[in-house]
Amino acid sequence: MTARIIDGKTYAEGLRARIAGHVERLKREHGVTPGLAVVIVGHDPGSEIYVSQKAKLTVEVGMHSEKYELPEDASEAEVLALVRNLNDDPDIHGILVQLPLPRQIDPNKVIATISPDKDVDCFTPASVGKLQIGLPGPVSCTPLGCLMLLRDTLGSLEGLNAVVVGRSNLVGKPMAQLLLRENCTVTIAHSRTKDLASVVRGADIVVAAVGRPLMIKGDWIKPGATVIDVGINRIPALERGEGKTRLVGDVDYQSAAAVAGAITPVPGGVGPMTIACLLANTVTTASLINGLVPPEDLTP
Ligand code: GUN
Repeated sequence: MTARIIDGKTYAEGLRARIAGHVERLKREHGVTPGLAVVIVGHDPGSEIYVSQKAKLTVEVGMHSEKYELPEDASEAEVLALVRNLNDDPDIHGILVQLPLPRQIDPNKVIATISPDKDVDCFTPASVGKLQIGLPGPVSCTPLGCLMLLRDTLGSLEGLNAVVVGRSNLVGKPMAQLLLRENCTVTIAHSRTKDLASVVRGADIVVAAVGRPLMIKGDWIKPGATVIDVGINRIPALERGEGKTRLVGDVDYQSAAAVAGAITPVPGGVGPMTIACLLANTVTTASLINGLVPPEDLTP
């Protein structure tokens, strides 16, 4: 079998076009321009690229965008003060503090300071709780993107065995929560799981989010399964010469694509969905802050 490629890049373009329509309607009918503030501290090269991309796409869908760049040695108090200002800023409906933060800053303190009403990452304890019990609000961006791709590929997910490999607060745990809501039978596996290969082999849906390059092999995959690869890992590409690198996922794409029914590539799979879902969440929070019902097609 050769798997169908799940084209996240094209899906995300379509999603951004729909978001642009919702933004236009919010402006025209309600005088509301959704605003997203992104805060980056220091110079992590990966984060800088990611944050610039976010700012560019925010403007492209018609939203108001603010970017705050603090130096590597910024104090925790400075970051907390900035977040508090943004909490009080009526032009801002979404606040994203790019992680990781430099060592002197406690990410949990920063996250807890973000107003849950503007928490477009769905990182605050209040947002995580809302997601858990099914109250309206933002949904973690990467898991939301994965769910949209799964629904688009499979239709109903009811009754399917889903294995999430990875138990992070950012991806693994909220992903499992969303799959449970879809009536999947969900297993959360991780680096300490005994005989991980056989656990993955039982899955109709595999979501790989462990951050280990090429860990999940084709012979771990049940024939016909749908594979969502969240991993973005940079590894040496020796065939291209000394010092060259390439991006790979947590799944060994070549061998897995020969067995799976459908699979996301890296890059061009889940990555573009994360930013599109961040924009979707900003429309959701802008709607809720203004007492409006958020668009149904942007939240599960
Ligand atoms: N760093 C890597 N991914 C993310 C994300 O989705 N949100 C934030 N805030 N930081 C990140």
